[in-house]
Amino acid sequence: MSEKTASRSSEPIDEALIERIDRYIERLFVPHDPSLEQNIGAATAAGLPEIQVSANQGKLLYLIAKMARASKMLEIGTLGGYSTTWLARAMPGDGKLITLELDPKHAAVARGNLERAGASERVEIRIGRAAETLRQMIGAGEPPFDLIFIDADKPGYVEYLNLSLQLARSGTVILADNVIRHGRVLEENPPDENARGAKAFNDAIAAHPRLESILLPIFRDKVDGLSISIVK
Ligand code: SAH
Ligand code: DHB
Ligand code: MG
Repeated sequence: MSEKTASRSSEPIDEALIERIDRYIERLFVPHDPSLEQNIGAATAAGLPEIQVSANQGKLLYLIAKMARASKMLEIGTLGGYSTTWLARAMPGDGKLITLELDPKHAAVARGNLERAGASERVEIRIGRAAETLRQMIGAGEPPFDLIFIDADKPGYVEYLNLSLQLARSGTVILADNVIRHGRVLEENPPDENARGAKAFNDAIAAHPRLESILLPIFRDKVDGLSISIVK
């Protein structure tokens, strides 16, 4: 290895460059969209945290859902319905998306946003603790989903995975957001419970006999990531 290569590889990540690349991708592939911009505006106005997926990640979720030809989807963690809207747009006309949210205030904002986006008829928001709602669905014999997106509280991720697998079939795509946490999942004992939850989830999908998986780093303000799994 040349000295130049060695010194370059030890330089810190150029966050300004990553931000410019992200904007470049957005400019090319995520056209200006009043409905999605209104969605974020309404969420901000209502005081919701600005932790929705980025525009580029929304487009990625949309493309994965289309590639999987998903018409029955489950989302765990609705917030203001931003990722919900991206996923709903990927569904065929007879598709159905169920999204789970603990906070009734978030659900109310999402309901308004989904109505404005023309998606409310095909999206059902279920309010409550996701693990309980998932257990109810399993108990009621809910038919399997084509795609499941996990994005609620990170300490719950392993439980959501195990419950999701009971609502899946061979070929179901399981995605999860926030699985890198700016590299905190690399630590043996991550300092915060969100990173610990994400790390435990990553270990679980890596070892799971029913799953084939990968993690995709996602650049927002920091480096985070999306896990992509398919059920064998
Ligand atoms: N998917 C959204 C972001 C979700 S943020 C988007 O990208 O647009 C995480 C959401 O999970 C928050 O709205 C939070 O209220 C919700 N949440 C947290 N704990 C939960 C639980 N136990 N059950 C269901 N939802 C939960
Ligand atoms: C955060 C980001 C998320 O996408 C999420 O679902 C929850 C929390 C965060 O950056 O804190
Ligand atoms: Mg998230």
